[in-house]
Amino acid sequence: MSVQAPVRRITAPDIAAMKGAAPIVSLTAYHAHTAAIADPHCDFLLVGDSLGMVMHGFETTLPVPLELMITHGRAVMRGAKRALVVVDMPFGSYEESPPVAFRNSAKVIKETQCGAVKLEGGRRMAETIDYLCQRGVPVMAHIGLTPQSINVMGGFKVQGREKSQWKALEDDAQAVADAGAFAVVLEAMPEELARRITRKIPIPTIGIGAGRHCDGQILVMEDMLGLSPRVPKFVKQFGGVGQAIDAAIRGYAEEVRQGAFPTVDHTYAMKKPDKSPGKGKQRA
Ligand code: KIV
Repeated sequence: MSVQAPVRRITAPDIAAMKGAAPIVSLTAYHAHTAAIADPHCDFLLVGDSLGMVMHGFETTLPVPLELMITHGRAVMRGAKRALVVVDMPFGSYEESPPVAFRNSAKVIKETQCGAVKLEGGRRMAETIDYLCQRGVPVMAHIGLTPQSINVMGGFKVQGREKSQWKALEDDAQAVADAGAFAVVLEAMPEELARRITRKIPIPTIGIGAGRHCDGQILVMEDMLGLSPRVPKFVKQFGGVGQAIDAAIRGYAEEVRQGAFPTVDHTYAMKKPDKSPGKGKQRA
């Protein structure tokens, strides 16, 4: 048995309690290795449906099926031991009705053992958020630029650039908080609007392209690592992982072509014959 005490995983109420206390740090994660690396540094990891674009080459998040979210959710849960893991509900898996949302989010929680789900929408999803929270499903909401509504919004567009649009977004934030969401993602909106929302509602706001005054920040991991070929304006690249991968693969290809890899250090030798008495004889 291990002498180490088991590490307690961060919960949705822990994240809610961080409002006004400490900045909440989060990233997306889609697979076990990167989840394990991010785990000690992040309060929560989001298995975002952005994985459809980042990992699977779709142009939008709309084609992502529930099963794919579950597959990646399970991988992230195997890699991360401490951070709360939140799994995105993909387009079409929750909008129809609260019972449909419950059935699918219960499936996600049962099959991944994640600690919460995220869904997109403000006032229009308030009834569903309330229904899920009443039945044991912690919900993170997501307002502002909601990529699953791209066909209604007419593209990946910053929201709330006109002051006339602020009230609707503030009402969305209030509605998801009143419905019981433990946190809300604010995506792609002017900093001043995100500051107003953050001041007004009692749950943490998690900003992505929403400026400096949110209670926490989230980025797509591949974007901040410098792995994504194109990134939005709000992304800071904290690494050059794409270049590092390119240099490593270039080096490997060159060495294979030149016959410089593998060397004797990378090969297996035969077992030495065992000379001890009695060894090597067949049993009668
Ligand atoms: O799917 C995702 O990665 C997200 C983040 C951008 C918040 O929803």
